Amino acid sequence: MFFLAIHHFIIYNTSSMKEKISVIGAGNVGATTAELIVRDGFADVVLFDVHEGIARGKALDISEACPLWSSPATVRGTAYFEDTAGSDIIIITAGFPRKPGMSRDDLLHANADVIKEVTAGTVQYSPDAIIIVVTNPMDVMAYAALRVSRFERKRVVGMGGVLDSARFRTFVSMEMGVSPQDVEALVLGGHGDQMVPMPRFTTVKGIPITELLNDDTINHIIERTRNGGAEIVGLLKTGSAFYAPAASSVQMAKAILFDEKRLLPCSAYLDGEYGTAGMFVGVPVVLGGNGVEKIVDLELTTEERAMFDRSASAVRAMVDTLKLP
Ligand code: NAI
Ligand code: 2OP
Repeated sequence: MFFLAIHHFIIYNTSSMKEKISVIGAGNVGATTAELIVRDGFADVVLFDVHEGIARGKALDISEACPLWSSPATVRGTAYFEDTAGSDIIIITAGFPRKPGMSRDDLLHANADVIKEVTAGTVQYSPDAIIIVVTNPMDVMAYAALRVSRFERKRVVGMGGVLDSARFRTFVSMEMGVSPQDVEALVLGGHGDQMVPMPRFTTVKGIPITELLNDDTINHIIERTRNGGAEIVGLLKTGSAFYAPAASSVQMAKAILFDEKRLLPCSAYLDGEYGTAGMFVGVPVVLGGNGVEKIVDLELTTEERAMFDRSASAVRAMVDTLKLP
């Protein structure tokens, strides 16, 4: 009887404590993120989109794969914010792609409106969540999410550096013919053309790539990393990358959910770190159960600092354009 009671207690508590992640935007990145989470089975997912049928259809399709994956997770599609209630993590991928005739500024304003709407809509039902922002221009959208949510800065984080560093790792591994898992890389700055790949902190099994590759090759890899998003747009023609972006978002969500305290390059709100304040820029952070638990403030060389400042200025110009409070 006693063991039965304990058994019930454990079952009850396990099921009631199941983690919940809301993925906002059921497009390429959002749906793939939902798929990866559900396939791994580490949280239940709510997939939200302004187009209810898209969210519900993709969620149902993913649900129907669960028996094949032996996944205990559930996924539900919706267009109602109340269904996102009690989320531990909110991953925002909702937005518009750039359309012909649309300037960068038009896109900036259109996506900022989306971020304001979905942030306000979700945080009212999940006041304790941690927000991961993916929508571009990501560093600026993270700023909008922070302002609208009024969360502490550690509870809003942007996804960009994990993806850019994964691309850097991939290109180094391709160049050297080694496994990408033996390559570590670091990319700082805004998630845009001016991002700052850091060869000094990029290693193969601990060996800096500056010892392994010549300058021309490293410069080629840096340029390819900076153009990583554009290279895929150029091939796809009708959209942008989503497999690696979804995998990057999931890595961050896991770091938070399982309090992994991973050291990852993420877009964090800086308040004096890296000589920058009042904006989000990509820097190494410790990501754990409380969100951005620490910002690792590296000493940069003069050249690195100039590149970082240029990248931060590009983000600042967009933040200023938006005139957010
Ligand atoms: P997509 O166009 O496939 O999906 C966007 C989805 O957002 C659509 O399903 C659309 O209906 C939905 N949406 C639009 N307005 C909405 C609203 N008000 N409420 C709810 N849903 C809304 O785009 P994709 O490829 O999934 O990319 C999503 C965003 O992520 C884009 O801004 C893209 O540039 C960005 N991105 C950022 C990356 C990063 O590293 N930070 C990497 C890859 C993409
Ligand atoms: C990327 O880097 C579009 O930001 C997106 O692929």
